[in-house]
Amino acid sequence: MAHFLKISDWSAEELEHVVYLSKKLKAARARKRSVADDPAIHMPLADRTLAMIFEKPSTRTRVSFEVGMMELGGRAIVLSADDLQLGRGEPLADTAKVLSRYVDAVMIRTTSHARLKTFAEASTVPVINGLTDLHHPTQIIADLLTVLEHKGTLNGVRIAYVGDGNNNVTHSWLEAAALLGLDLAVASPKAYAPDASVLGFAYETAKRTGAKIAVVESPEEAVYARDVVITDVWTSMGREAESEARRTALLPYQVNAALMRLTDPEAIFMHCLPAHRGEEVTTEIIDGPRSVVFDEAENRLHAHKAILLHLFGVSQPIAHLSSSL
Ligand code: CP
Ligand code: NVA
Repeated sequence: MAHFLKISDWSAEELEHVVYLSKKLKAARARKRSVADDPAIHMPLADRTLAMIFEKPSTRTRVSFEVGMMELGGRAIVLSADDLQLGRGEPLADTAKVLSRYVDAVMIRTTSHARLKTFAEASTVPVINGLTDLHHPTQIIADLLTVLEHKGTLNGVRIAYVGDGNNNVTHSWLEAAALLGLDLAVASPKAYAPDASVLGFAYETAKRTGAKIAVVESPEEAVYARDVVITDVWTSMGREAESEARRTALLPYQVNAALMRLTDPEAIFMHCLPAHRGEEVTTEIIDGPRSVVFDEAENRLHAHKAILLHLFGVSQPIAHLSSSL
């Protein structure tokens, strides 16, 4: 079963295909054309149902997947863990087997990556990772689209991630950069460095793809002359008990005007949102002219539509309809 649990589940070719398809779907939507308008593709996901399980809160992931399914002619069912017997202790595997009998795909946002894997192993329909502690792959498809549209290319763009390195967004960015041969510098304190196995994968893959992956402690070094600066919250969902220690350790990693002065003058600022203004980023930067965070949030919709089409195996004909879309 083809799932999308982490960026490295897909090849570089698949990742590129999905990012370019997202771009095409975005352009079509801007012209008020949906894929359903094209006579060659009548409602590509008609009669398909996506179930979405949330064991953590969500605004963007939830709404963009639901709207995305609707725009492609399908339906989505949103389930919070408390609505399900899962919340009362029904095994994940049983839940996955039962849902597989009703729906065509499941998106799940959960705590540990092990929980996601348990669910996916029992599922007989495609499973999409809507965020775990370790990975946030759907976010990074949208992020790649955002870099592509603001910088015109992904090749040679100098990207920096500053802040909590032991973080789902950082890990998915490391995998994407390694597979796609990108240039990514990550700056985080040693105590919050990226996961060793994700980093091992990134370094190993970079040898083959020519990606430039650097993990440093100095935020100034990481952002120097960079084209893109990315950060995320210092305390991810589920790690609230560590928030005081994290605030102290990560304070030197705040993205502020002084740090942005070291970047390329045309550098953009990205954040997956929700953001904590005054912590990982100042209001001046996130609400300033270099910030593209709302384009990035919008791009979740286009990215998710492309991810769904790819997982359902119907993306190729749509990607080739360059004239009508
Ligand atoms: N960026 C992101 O995943 O946002 P939500 O938590 O609102 O889904
Ligand atoms: N790293 C953040 C991302 C939120 C979308 C978290 O896991 O809370």
